[in-house]
This record gives sequence, C-alpha cells and structure tokens, in this order.
Amino acid sequence: MEETKKVMLSGIKPTGDLTLGSYLGAIKNWAERAEQFDCYYFMADLHALTTRNNPADLRRRTLEQLAQYVACGLDPEKNTLFIQSHVPAHAELGWVLNCYTMFGELSRMTQFKDKSRKNADNVNGGLFTYPSLMAADILLYQPDYVPVGDDQKQHVELTRDIAQRFNNLYSDTFKIPEPYIPKIGARVMDLQDPLSKMSKSDDVGTGRVCLMDKPEDIARKFKRAVTDSETGERCVRYAPEEKPGVANLMQIYAACTGRSFDAIEDEFAGHGYGDFKTAVGEAVIETLRPIREEASRIMKDKGYLETLCKNGAEKASYIANKTLRKVYKKVGLVPAVR
Ligand code: TRP
Repeated sequence: MEETKKVMLSGIKPTGDLTLGSYLGAIKNWAERAEQFDCYYFMADLHALTTRNNPADLRRRTLEQLAQYVACGLDPEKNTLFIQSHVPAHAELGWVLNCYTMFGELSRMTQFKDKSRKNADNVNGGLFTYPSLMAADILLYQPDYVPVGDDQKQHVELTRDIAQRFNNLYSDTFKIPEPYIPKIGARVMDLQDPLSKMSKSDDVGTGRVCLMDKPEDIARKFKRAVTDSETGERCVRYAPEEKPGVANLMQIYAACTGRSFDAIEDEFAGHGYGDFKTAVGEAVIETLRPIREEASRIMKDKGYLETLCKNGAEKASYIANKTLRKVYKKVGLVPAVR
C-alpha cells in the first residue's frame, strides 16, 4: 500500500507578475516537492479583491499565473493546482470562520495595519477579514504544512488559533497546520537597488525581471544593472557587503548555470563588468526561455487551460467539501438535501 504523504498547501495572490526572484528563490524547488508531499497550490483570486483591480487584468493574471506555475515544472498530475473562486467551499468556510475570529485578533494583524495605512481610501471589510478567509483556505485541506514567507507567518499563527478554538468547542475537526520554512533558493535582489528584494508587485522598472519578459528586455535590464563602480575595483568578486550589486549578479548567474562563485570569478578574471553583465543576461534568457514559451503555449491552448482548471477544482472540491460538511454539521446548520 502506498504510504500517505504529508499534505502541503500554499496560495498565491495573482496581483503581480512572477519574477526571476520568485522563480530562482522558490518555484524552481517546488517541482521536486511533489515526490515527498501531497501539494495544493491555488491562485488566490478572492484575496485579490481586497484591493481594486482592473477586472480584465485580474482575469488574465490569474490564468497567466496558473500557466506559469505549470511551465515552471509543477506537474498538474502530481500537484493539485486550482483557482480559489472555482472552489466555493473557500468562501463558505471563510464566512463560518469569520464568526470564530475575534475583532481584536484581526485588528492586531500587522499586514492589515500596513495595508490600511497605505490604502487609506479603501480600508474595506475584506481587507480586515482576509485572515479568516486565509484560515479557511488552509483548514479545508487539513494540511500538515503551509509554506509561507515572513509576512504571512502571523496569519498562519492566527489560523492555528482559530482551528484550536473550533476544535475545543466542537471536538476535533481541523488538523493544526505548521508554518513551513522552505529551503531557500537564491535570494535575488533588485537589479537597480541590490539592497532590496526583487519584488513581485513593484511598479514595472528595469530592476525587476519577469518570467514573461522578452529576451531583448532581459538583456537590456542586465546591461543597466547596478554594479557599485564607486569602489574603484572593477572586477568580478563575491563581496556582498562591499559590492552588493555584483554579488547579486553572481548569485543569479550561479543559480542559472550551476557554477560556483570561485568558478565565476575565474571565468571573468581580467574582464570588465560589461562582459559579465552580458553573460548574466544571456544565462537568464536561456533559463527563462522554455518557461516563457511553455506558458505562452498554454495560454493559447484554451482547451487545455479549461481542463486544467476543471480537473484542479474537482480534485480540490472533493477534499474541501468533506471538511465543509463536517463543519456545517458541527455548528448546527441543517444539511441540504441533494
Ligand atoms: N495571503 C497570502 C499572500 O498574500 C496568499 C494566501 C491566501 C495564502 N491564502 C493562503 C498563502 C493560504 C498560504 C495559504 O501571499
């Protein structure tokens, strides 16, 4: 008999384009996870509604993001990939859990405080109750692990508290999930500002390389990358403190080619930064080429995309509805006759 794998789940908001940073730092390592874990990944489109979007953009981004994950190696046969709004149980359990999440708890969420400060003209109810929906996203699938970045840790802690509270009131219903600190891949920094992370939702700038960028744009962005020429020493040497820009380019080159920092230093000994930046740009172009081509192919294949969405939503719904039925019954809702 097949041994049951531990369950892992993560949601990704379709609010920005995926970047080289998301790929080298995270997604690249996800394909192999499926060997060890039963993985669920969903496009958190309901969460995206907490800020204003252009509807056509949101729709396109949601599908593009899904296509890009598949193109990055997440096999839909081995992982459950789906769109959050295609599984109504998320919104349904979200409502129930809202009733088991305290106003005070939600008020203390750092992300809520940050976002309401930044978007003072749109501090809506959804932004406030976002963590209860996120708790529902998670608890529906009874996962063991939730891989999240630092900014989401507090939400996973709250999810545990909500689950515990519910279990104490109604007997064991939810598995208590643990945050999972993923194996870090390369830490890719902004090409123009090597002290900050290459982020997904920043404005379009030359410091950020997106998975779908055209080769000529990638080449241009690397040619313009900052290399700390003020130190005077213009050689390729790994010194993150003194030369963060060069160190970042070396990280990227190492991640794309599999070469060590020593090997890279040797390769560019006696060359200026210009040659080095061109080489890094070329390595990135070749790394991203198959991903971009595959994602575009998927985006054009409406039939495949539909099947992908449908199969994912069916697989997810089966598990999610089981949990939802249990919850409805425990809290006293009359079972629907179907
Ligand atoms: N809140 C997460 C973010 O902003 C996205 C998310 C929604 C999520 N639901 C989730 C992550 C469930 C992990 C598990 O990045």
